[in-house]
Amino acid sequence: MAETVYPVPANWAQDALVDEAAYHAMHRRSVEDPVGFWRDAAQRIDWIKPFTTVKQTSFNEADFGIEWFADGTLNLSANALDRHLETRGDQVAILWEPDDPADAARRITYRELHADVCRFANVLKSRGVQKGDRVTIYLPMVPEAAVAMLACARIGAIHSIVFAGFSPEALAGRITDCDSTIVLTADEGLRGGKKVPLKDNVDEALGHCPAVETVIVLRRTGAAVPMVPGRDVDWAEVAAAQSTVCEPEEMGAEDPLFILYTSGSTGKPKGVLHTTGGYSVWASITHQYVFDYRPGQIYWCAADIGWVTGHSYVVYGPLMNGATTVMFEGVPNYPDASRFWQVVDKFGVEIFYGAPTALRALMREGDEWVTRTSRKTLRLLGSVGEPINPEAWEWYHKVVGEGRCPIVDTWWQTETGGVMISPLPGATALKPGSATRPFFGVQPALVDNEGVPIEGAGDGCLVITDSWPGQMRTVWGDHERFFQTYFSTFPGTYFTGDGCRRDEDGYYWITGRIDDVINVSGHRMGTAEIESALVAHAKVAEAAVVGMPHDIKGQGIYAFVTTNANVEPDEALRRELVQWVRHEIGPIATPDVIQFAPGLPKTRSGKIMRRILRKIGENDVSNLGDTSTLADPSVVDHLLANRPQLA
Ligand code: PRX
Repeated sequence: MAETVYPVPANWAQDALVDEAAYHAMHRRSVEDPVGFWRDAAQRIDWIKPFTTVKQTSFNEADFGIEWFADGTLNLSANALDRHLETRGDQVAILWEPDDPADAARRITYRELHADVCRFANVLKSRGVQKGDRVTIYLPMVPEAAVAMLACARIGAIHSIVFAGFSPEALAGRITDCDSTIVLTADEGLRGGKKVPLKDNVDEALGHCPAVETVIVLRRTGAAVPMVPGRDVDWAEVAAAQSTVCEPEEMGAEDPLFILYTSGSTGKPKGVLHTTGGYSVWASITHQYVFDYRPGQIYWCAADIGWVTGHSYVVYGPLMNGATTVMFEGVPNYPDASRFWQVVDKFGVEIFYGAPTALRALMREGDEWVTRTSRKTLRLLGSVGEPINPEAWEWYHKVVGEGRCPIVDTWWQTETGGVMISPLPGATALKPGSATRPFFGVQPALVDNEGVPIEGAGDGCLVITDSWPGQMRTVWGDHERFFQTYFSTFPGTYFTGDGCRRDEDGYYWITGRIDDVINVSGHRMGTAEIESALVAHAKVAEAAVVGMPHDIKGQGIYAFVTTNANVEPDEALRRELVQWVRHEIGPIATPDVIQFAPGLPKTRSGKIMRRILRKIGENDVSNLGDTSTLADPSVVDHLLANRPQLA
């Protein structure tokens, strides 16, 4: 198929921060002289005590370690707030759009946000929270979520945000893993007109978390929720009692900033730990260059703060750069499929950053929902979270952006802290479906399954050969797991878990995960997590989960389930298991297909041959490969004969 190439529009080439020549020069310097490049680039941050060392990093087992700007000190909240007060104190920092368009939006200036953050930082202190303590945040997309993050950063507490769509079980696991003794939540969340019982979920979770001493409850809907005396307090009440003066804590560059749990191919979700200095530099520089951001522009990243995109590109990156950042509580199709574009018009959004899954869902509703809105303020579009298929890319470009807005398809991960591979709008000719070229300081490489480097055009496993400032520093509580997960597969490199193709122009095309992680609507799920939820059900003996292609979600969840001997699988059990998984993990883990099977394909040593199950999930069953090592090959025939009819 002939590849379409979209050259950089002339106005972008001329006006952008970086054009093609500058990109090459800057990228070259960033890899040839990383110390010089990052010493200069880090001046974008206000340091309390300047650093003298820039980069002390090794991916090798013998001297493994990752430190950036190690002897410098800073405070991220001061970089996001205090330093703007003189120049743009009265500029809107957060533009909040509620779930229901009939309700009032909120406009919070930098000065107001600074006061709110200081006040809430004092609340945290008054509850005994100290530097290094973990604060769990289980809040909907409301400005107070950003206030809570920045308040933690201000006093040096480590926040751990748990997506408000996760179940009580998932929440409890994350609270326990990081020994958090305080939880911030709301009475209820509101999404697409539906209420989410956040406080009830917290109460249920805390049944398993006796160490939690304080729950601070924001009133979002005003629903009557039980308050446990001595433990639960009202957000507005405790905040009103505090002063708006709170000096920022002096943090070491390598002091922890936040933990964010994410799924891997094995075991329970890992607490990805980011530290203060390198992350601040990375979130702010990537936000500036990838979006060609100029202070004061209206910028909207539609991600939830429960994911890393919300951390780096709703809150930290934009605020460090003096942005007006839109925070949206709702969903793309409520009250109708015009919602995104109505918000764009309402606020005059210039830069919009969203996920392919939402675009695919909106595309299906027809162009009318888009074309009836103006969108004349839009200049730049972004995509994140999963590969964007060329059809969705073209639609985004032509219908949403009316052909005039470049699209930055940004590849990165929770672990990377910020964007790694992406076009720069004034520098990079676009190819639909390609994340194009590495950001400054990023050195991607492809290796085959044995770790042999692939030069030039080719297909392989994506690794990164040297450290960048925004890299995660450890898995909370398990440094060995950090090393094993990312640095042992292809020694000396960071292994991303993604497959990737590089074309003749040196453009990168992410082909998706090559480990047991699936990407459902841009949400990362470990198949092992869903399996362990399934086998926790009393009637389930064994389960194996694989991804399946899905038009809207990108990937769906296909579960093979073997029931206990005395259980007859039927439709009722299928429905029960779907509800069970939703309850154990959350609605994002809802299985799309459950296929009951008397046995799973196993080798003689008892290992499930996932390769075969993956092929069935992908409906690619003409060649299942070598099945001769199976203990019982007839199991496969049964699986093939009993595949559920898919729509
Ligand atoms: O497989 C890649 C996919 O999402 C994974 C990272 O997921 P998570 O840590 O939840 O972070 C998502 C937001 C940064 C990656 O390993 N992914 C992310 N962005 C892209 C992508 N795949 C293709 N193209 C992208 N632009």
